[in-house]
Amino acid sequence: MIRTVITGSAGRMGSTLVRLTLDAKDLELAGATARPGSPAVGQDAGLAARVGEARVRVSDDLGRTLDAARADVVIDFTGAELSVAHAEACAARGVALVVGSTGFSPAQQAALAGCAKVIPVVAAPNMSVGVNVVFRVAAELARVLGEGFDVEVLEAHHRMKKDAPSGTALRLAEVLTAALGRSRDDLAFARHGNIGARPAKEIGVQTLRGGDVVGEHTVFFYGEGERIELTHRATSRDQFGLGALRAARWVVGRPPGLYDMADVLGFQGTP
Ligand SMILES: NC(=O)c1ccc[n+]([C@@H]2O[C@H](COP(=O)([O-])OP(=O)(O)OC[C@H]3O[C@@H](n4cnc5c(N)ncnc54)[C@H](OP(=O)(O)O)[C@@H]3O)[C@@H](O)[C@H]2O)c1
Repeated sequence: MIRTVITGSAGRMGSTLVRLTLDAKDLELAGATARPGSPAVGQDAGLAARVGEARVRVSDDLGRTLDAARADVVIDFTGAELSVAHAEACAARGVALVVGSTGFSPAQQAALAGCAKVIPVVAAPNMSVGVNVVFRVAAELARVLGEGFDVEVLEAHHRMKKDAPSGTALRLAEVLTAALGRSRDDLAFARHGNIGARPAKEIGVQTLRGGDVVGEHTVFFYGEGERIELTHRATSRDQFGLGALRAARWVVGRPPGLYDMADVLGFQGTP
């Protein structure tokens, strides 16, 4: 059994992960945390996540939880700033980490990479297997279609999402710029006013927010007389959670390093 700790266990992804961990035959829920002052602290983690009894109390201190839980792996979907603090707690104790949080600044990214020199870390802005296949297909389409097509990325998420554009849209932009030999300077994150004609090398990355949208991403390839639209729609958080559990099984026992879902899924080379 892989002893698994879920941080932010009362959150949207955290409660999904508590349920999926309790359902998994090869994973044991060894600990759960929530924000200090959260009503979930001190409660049974399963009841706090509204998924049935788990016989694990929610704590507000990951360090103490790790010391008590003999954890093999932590799964963290709490947000960039906290994920760095959680990575430091894992690195200090030699516990493997799966990070699903998005919105890392370059400094936070560097701090996470520093922790990954000591422990194995899987970090990915989208843990769904389907989306990771879309990254590869998008790169292939960009390479084959080449310069004759205008490339645009559109994403939509629920009204509570804090970062924009989504980490998935940013990864799509990264994959597309690499495939087309372009740079970050070619990305256009907003358009407003008298902007003139679209530069040929521009890649637009646009954001919609509203309601309870779990996550939708489309890459448009606009050509002359035809267009291709590559869309992924998530209708439940379970696919992110199942991908995170797959990453947790994969990362335990690996050498220190910063890995992503392409490593977990066994994709060779960059998309
Ligand atoms: N990689 C992927 O596949 C994927 C998929 C979905 C989402 N995400 C990302 O995952 C992150 C979380 O998303 P979400 O929708 O689940 O957000 P969320 O519902 O706000 O969950 C975050 C949870 O962390 C809790 N928290 C705050 N401070 C804490 C602390 N000190 N210790 C432990 N827990 C603490 C929050 O508690 P309070 O609400 O009480 O503050 C909240 O329950 C975001 O960055 C999102 O973009 C990634």
